[in-house]
Amino acid sequence: MTTLLKGSIPDKITMEPVKGLMGELEVPGDKSISHRTVILGSVADGITEADCFLWSEDNIMTVEAFKSLGIKIDKKNSQVIIEGKGLYGLEEPNDILYTGNSGTATRLLAGLLAGQSFFSVISGDESLRKRPMSRVVNPLSLMGARVYGRDGGNFAPLAIIGSDLKAVEYSSPISSAQVKSAVLLAGIYAEGETSFIEPYKSRDHTERMLSAFGADIAVNNKKVYVKGRRQLKGCKVSIPGDISSAAFFIVAALITPESELLIKRVGVNPTRTGFIDLLLKMGGNIEILNKSEKSTEPVADILVRSSRLHGIDIKEYDVPRAIDEFPVLCIAAAAADGRTVIRGASELRVKESDRISNIAEGLRSLGARVEELPDGMVIDGGHGLSGAVVKSYGDHRAAMSFIVAGMVASGFTEILGTGCIDTSFPDFMDYLKRVVI
Ligand code: S3P
Repeated sequence: MTTLLKGSIPDKITMEPVKGLMGELEVPGDKSISHRTVILGSVADGITEADCFLWSEDNIMTVEAFKSLGIKIDKKNSQVIIEGKGLYGLEEPNDILYTGNSGTATRLLAGLLAGQSFFSVISGDESLRKRPMSRVVNPLSLMGARVYGRDGGNFAPLAIIGSDLKAVEYSSPISSAQVKSAVLLAGIYAEGETSFIEPYKSRDHTERMLSAFGADIAVNNKKVYVKGRRQLKGCKVSIPGDISSAAFFIVAALITPESELLIKRVGVNPTRTGFIDLLLKMGGNIEILNKSEKSTEPVADILVRSSRLHGIDIKEYDVPRAIDEFPVLCIAAAAADGRTVIRGASELRVKESDRISNIAEGLRSLGARVEELPDGMVIDGGHGLSGAVVKSYGDHRAAMSFIVAGMVASGFTEILGTGCIDTSFPDFMDYLKRVVI
């Protein structure tokens, strides 16, 4: 199996308290947008070029999958160049498509492959094979797709017999950009107009990018409509810095005593900035500067200074816009004065790990007062953290969050299982070393 980057980060990292984070940095390109660039570029006509592509393990899985589907994809420094073959140009792969740890690659590919004229199988690593797939298999089946998996279609490997799809109007019980994107990608192959609605708006990169690639797509608040069987056209994509990667630096700068950090060229799409709003509510000193629009996405510089944070109540409607930032937000809550209550976040249990139990366990080992709830957590912060051994459970965002915790915990914090950081941010420790004082 391709694990192209394994080894670039050691599997155990020891941290000790730091004074702060000082200076400037630019984080690597956005993971979600990098996946979508490859997917849409492959089924568009002509060349798609993107700068600041994220060459992390998750995105390499998507690149390799599309190479197996007959697409020529080149890497030039941080650029990716895709020779799209049009809507009907993909070829039947002669082996399984291995998506590693990537839920996004798996679920978006399932949507795209459902409408092809060939057979394919998608599978990933141990964590991926435990993650629910019925959330995409159900709507795709309504469209006429034939997608099969273990446990009645809920777990990968997923076997897909390409079918003639028909448009549906799908009302999703969960707010999920992966589900929405799977349905929209199937929708571009379906006869008629597919629509998708969700309880709260999830990240909208697919909608923005489909529009830039020339799809017939319309958005009305939480509802998206796409007309099927229209050619897409390759284009230039400018990928902003990943706000989910910036999140670790933002929280580290807030909770350490002598920080002033400028993170430049970060994507500030409003469907992704929920955790900035939550940190502002907690009293975080964060300024959004130099806002501009880069191809399809808004970008800005984010200035963060050490802050005295306080606990807040986080509700279900706050969750989708901050979904990937909860692990590090919990570290901020443990460092904040008073109580933070997180509710309506049961989606965290089906991420790369069960992020509720995993983060609660790690924080408790560091001496924090944490109570686990079925759909969230209660964190009584401000009592100090003390160094201990914590485990990532193979979850890249948990590993980076505990590294941040280790910057404020007294003594030494040993984080086990940090190799998985390659999933989204292979150079994380180098970036950190450049700004830590
Ligand atoms: C993603 C959507 C989110 C997020 C994931 C990336 C995407 O998942 O957690 O890391 O790129 O569409 P859900 O849509 O399942 O919440």
